[in-house]
Amino acid sequence: MCGIVGYVGDKQAQEVVVEGLRRLEYRGYDSAGIALVEGGVVHTTKRAGKLANLDKALADEPLPESTTGLGHTRWATHGPPTDLNAHPHTDCTGRVALVHNGIIENFAQLRIALGGRGHTLTSDTDTEAVAHLLEEELGGGTDLAQAMRAVCRQLQGAFTLVAIDGDQPDVVVAARRNSPLVVGRGNGENFVASDVAAFISHTRDAIELGQDQVVTISRDDVVVTDYDGAPVDVREFHVDWDAAAAEKGGYAWFMLKEIDEQPQAVSDTLLGRYSPDGRLQLDEMRLSDDELREIDKVIIIACGTAFYAGLVAKYAIEHWTRIPCEVELASEFRYRDPVLSHGTLVVAISQSGETMDTLMAIRHARQQGSRVLAVCNTNGSTIPRESDAVIYTHAGPEVAVAGTKTFLAQIVACYLLGLYLAQVRGTKFGDEIAGIVGQLQQIPAAIQRVLAEAEPVRELARSLVDTRSVLFLGRHVGYPVALEGALKLKELAYIHAEGFAAGELKHGPIALIDHRVPVFVVVPPKGRDMLHDKVVSNIQEIRARGARTIVLAEDGDEDVVAYADELIRLPKVPTLLQPLVATVPLQIFACELADALGRDVDQPRNLAKSVTVE
Ligand code: F6R
Repeated sequence: MCGIVGYVGDKQAQEVVVEGLRRLEYRGYDSAGIALVEGGVVHTTKRAGKLANLDKALADEPLPESTTGLGHTRWATHGPPTDLNAHPHTDCTGRVALVHNGIIENFAQLRIALGGRGHTLTSDTDTEAVAHLLEEELGGGTDLAQAMRAVCRQLQGAFTLVAIDGDQPDVVVAARRNSPLVVGRGNGENFVASDVAAFISHTRDAIELGQDQVVTISRDDVVVTDYDGAPVDVREFHVDWDAAAAEKGGYAWFMLKEIDEQPQAVSDTLLGRYSPDGRLQLDEMRLSDDELREIDKVIIIACGTAFYAGLVAKYAIEHWTRIPCEVELASEFRYRDPVLSHGTLVVAISQSGETMDTLMAIRHARQQGSRVLAVCNTNGSTIPRESDAVIYTHAGPEVAVAGTKTFLAQIVACYLLGLYLAQVRGTKFGDEIAGIVGQLQQIPAAIQRVLAEAEPVRELARSLVDTRSVLFLGRHVGYPVALEGALKLKELAYIHAEGFAAGELKHGPIALIDHRVPVFVVVPPKGRDMLHDKVVSNIQEIRARGARTIVLAEDGDEDVVAYADELIRLPKVPTLLQPLVATVPLQIFACELADALGRDVDQPRNLAKSVTVE
């Protein structure tokens, strides 16, 4: 939520910053702005709307050349998306330019106090108050980093702040609390950004910043302190993907590219986690076998698509480990006083590693003495850093706002966790675990086949552009797949869609069914006879009420043929692995229908990829 980039070096800062914003636009696209220092003066350009509007403004009226600058792409929280509310914000003198991600919770009091001290604030944002606080601190002759530390001590809430000062043209200063910030270390140049994607074409060497830290970057130096000015230790890391991974590579949408990358995402998440001696090895597990044997409950917490990955994982974890497993929305978790103990393993699933609801939930869990394991796709992010253990999904960067490849990678990572627990606790024999790992290793090829056979799904989507409502039904692990199919359609095509557990149909939702409502049904593999047959009965029930049935069923399942208006074939895989193939046609359907309706598939309205406010 909001993308931030800052640069000092020998290149033209405008180019570097705008390129960084382009890679961060997935974080918010309500407005974009840039500020540069030149000749002791801060120069700012900002525009409401997507980055293209800023590009045009800069083309019409170029800023002076400069090698120090910052930029921002906004997801609006305080104040509508206008030019005035766009970042950067400046102080009364125009000496300071500041960008911000997060929410300053005490901004109303700060604004009143600043007004009383003679400041004039012109925007509706919480951010602008901070620019004026910096102005006050700098007035005493302190340097920008000192001023930033003094200001941060007055702020409540969540923030990443990045500032430049006309009087100190060779530095950019940034601070963080509860919001993402990473440093990129280059040769004769340095960067700060919300995400490594912003500087990946310049350097892959990064520094992870901790909570309540301030960093000063200059051309040749990076200095990190706490809010009192004391030096702190930092963790350096190397980004294991390159700029090409963050490009569209000839695809019309990032989402299409990311859907196609799913076989690779699954194999990379499995890679190196199974040793030749037949044992699972999870490098970043950090919890000892004894600690894992003490676990008596697993609670998975996550939001959105990651939550649905957790719902899938619950079936496997309970089945393989016999440990009770609950799945809960992170936004609900800490407000209901959950029963937690030292024996509870809280598993936080998050692609970004920055989702505020999930972060707050894990903090609550740790305060209660529980152990926390993160399943995360983003190295250097906050959630894994604050967890006792982490399993990284190696899906590579996901730029489209709607999650696709990370959903599959999250399921695989959770399955590795389940199998690892089973291995340590002895609830599965080694050869059984090896068998399941072998089945998982077949999944990339199965997904590849679904991708290769997707044209009828695309045609179907194009034939349904006038549809106003779509239902998705599934059972067992097919239920979260139905929820995910509905979420993708809502967020991309802005069409009403709902996912239901097929068994719940008769308890109410069946009233929604008529000839105008297409219904997707995910049919369990025939191996699980009872479940399969019950879902086939459900298809007959809805068809009898006039619905158009779109049935996803495995190869060779002839029982569904008579009741399917459209039949999407899935490769035969074991039941627990079916979500890894069944989700893919639903992603393609949503993407194609959204495209046919002229929606912006990669940047749907009102959304942002990384939700760093509660
Ligand atoms: C939907 C989607 C979101 C995210 C959710 C959690 O396509 O991507 O629902 O899954 O905002 O985000 P992370 O995984 O970054 O915590």
